[in-house]
Amino acid sequence: MAGFGFPPGGTATCDGVDLVAVADAEGTPLYVYSEPLIIERYRELEAAFGDYPHRIHYALKANSTLGIVRLLHEAGSAFDANSAGEIAVALRAGAAPSEIVFTGVGKTATELDDAVRLGIGAINAESAGELDRIDRMARARGRRARVALRVNPNVRADTHPGIATGRRSHKFGVPIDQARALCLEAAARDGLDLVGVHAHVGSQITNVETLGRSAALVAELARTLLGDGVDLEHIDLGGGLGIAYDGAAAPTAAGYARVLLDVVAPTGLTLLLEPGRWIVGPAGILVATVVDIKPQRNGRHFVVLDAGMTEFLRPALYDAEHCLEYLTPLATPAVTCDFVGPICETTDVIAMARSMPLPEVGDRVVVRDTGAYGSAMASNYNRRPQPAEALVGGGKWRMIRRRQTIDDQVACEC
Ligand code: LLP
Repeated sequence: MAGFGFPPGGTATCDGVDLVAVADAEGTPLYVYSEPLIIERYRELEAAFGDYPHRIHYALKANSTLGIVRLLHEAGSAFDANSAGEIAVALRAGAAPSEIVFTGVGKTATELDDAVRLGIGAINAESAGELDRIDRMARARGRRARVALRVNPNVRADTHPGIATGRRSHKFGVPIDQARALCLEAAARDGLDLVGVHAHVGSQITNVETLGRSAALVAELARTLLGDGVDLEHIDLGGGLGIAYDGAAAPTAAGYARVLLDVVAPTGLTLLLEPGRWIVGPAGILVATVVDIKPQRNGRHFVVLDAGMTEFLRPALYDAEHCLEYLTPLATPAVTCDFVGPICETTDVIAMARSMPLPEVGDRVVVRDTGAYGSAMASNYNRRPQPAEALVGGGKWRMIRRRQTIDDQVACEC
């Protein structure tokens, strides 16, 4: 199987490449991705939907480093963009505007007008006001813009509250009970082609029944609209499929497809999906170096790394728990370690209370399953540089992002 290996007695590898060599050559903090695993996961998800008309629009927000986007474009993926920047990256990677859906609360007038001008595959509209603005922009250009309405199905997703998006109280989409009237109005506008209905109820959802409930509500709306004579082309069910961060069981692509196709196939509409995490999450790791060890009074040890919330925000922001490994296995007895970063914030943690062999300064730690929402959420807080990123493929590695320098950082400051 493609991906990372952590043999009990040997050093860590990625598709046969020795990760010690990569870390020695490129330094840390360093993200490393497995090209074969990204492709394998994309293909597995793609194939799970079989012959039913469908299209995968990889969610760029999970990881939009150009080397990864190019790879997925070459594999045949379309894209879901959340900003002008993500649209620009998809275009640079070779995607056609028609292969991009544009989602997002708070698209600016410039972003919307550019999307209309480019002929984006579908603008997933968030509100009556946004539909109105798109209609006016399209008519001003003598065009019709392809739009889908994002609905909020009021579904509870069993995930971290910070990444649930499908309840009435969340800022996303239009309440589903107002959607039919709004769609009928949109379909009658001269500047709009209403081509789909869209929903995304949250991320890291490991219960596919939740996604099925949302899909059923959206499919029912689509059927009603088809009955009303609206010429819909697709149902876009967003992303959200979770992965097993703690090694526990996670949904399979096949199980996910079964649940969605059950409710979507009767409509006959093309199914669009916007997976991010499921494709790239397990295909990336973060390598960090131990820079200090501080014993605590309670017998635990702070293991201070050269990576923290600036390189990897998920533990600080969502209490996310990622498996840790050492790049080279250690023979010291296990103690309780709090792996923390170098930033002046108490919330700057990578993993707390882990029973691991006590490392020494200079040892290297691997944070697993960081391919999604890792480098994409890195920041320059404390004037720290964005980390470097390497892609392993064909038995070697290449850099897809060099480490940022202080010159890069100040380049746009006057
Ligand atoms: N489509 C839309 C409209 C979205 O808002 C998202 C994620 C996706 C697709 C992709 O969802 P995925 O398949 O990756 O679950 N930073 C958080 C995750 C935020 C997700 C935001 N929206 C984290 O690290 O867990």
